[in-house]
Amino acid sequence: MKVIAISGSPRRGSSTDQLVREVLEGVEECEKEFISLAGKSVAPCRACLGCVETNVCVINDDFVSLREKVIAADGYIIGGPNYFNMLNGLTHAFLERWYQFRHRAAMLVAGRVGVAVGVGGGSGQPAADAISTFFKYNGIECIGDVTAQGAASCFTCGHGETCTVGAIHASFPPGTKITDDITPSLCKQPAAIAKARSLGKQLGERLTGSTTSRQARTARTHPRVAR
Ligand SMILES: Cc1cc2nc3c(=O)[nH]c(=O)nc-3n(C[C@H](O)[C@H](O)[C@H](O)COP(=O)(O)O)c2cc1C
Repeated sequence: MKVIAISGSPRRGSSTDQLVREVLEGVEECEKEFISLAGKSVAPCRACLGCVETNVCVINDDFVSLREKVIAADGYIIGGPNYFNMLNGLTHAFLERWYQFRHRAAMLVAGRVGVAVGVGGGSGQPAADAISTFFKYNGIECIGDVTAQGAASCFTCGHGETCTVGAIHASFPPGTKITDDITPSLCKQPAAIAKARSLGKQLGERLTGSTTSRQARTARTHPRVAR
């Protein structure tokens, strides 16, 4: 069984990367791979329908090298940051491209199992919710979600202490100095780490211990595709 863990944060080593890796760490007895979308060029779906006959997207960008990994995986851990109370664009574009997997009789990712991960300066829930919804819409059983607080860019942009429209101004009294104490980081959120590990464990168990095959799961969510 293979699990791929994808972080859609454009910041390498970010909180989303870390939380996604924690879920992956919890997975046992599976082949595992972490993939960061940072630095990758992934365009949104053009709705050109170029994939209808072949189930292969015609856009030539970095998704091409990820396509086989997505199809070959049995389980997905997908995480993205909250931008403007929504899933960020890079993760969303990546997910839109999965349109190529569902045409006519084919539903190529149905029957897989997933965990949704969301991170936000305030809340990661909108991002996690979007990923959970995406899973369900594509016949992927969502085991659960985990969220954490990440550091908004205002903590490191150099103007956070004086800026009147940023996260420091919104969350702390005037005159607050940016210190490690007030800077969010995953290592200060043991409950999120514990939940991430537990979901990873459940994901691994679901794949290795279950007598329910991928085909049987597909039959439950999309009976006409599984036949
Ligand atoms: C364009 C942009 C918009 C953002 N909007 C929100 C928001 O609406 N709510 C929120 O909680 N955090 C927001 N944030 C903060 C990020 O969610 C936060 O920095 C998070 O740690 C990003 O994840 P990362 O550290 O994995 O990159 C925003 C950040 C950016 C860059």
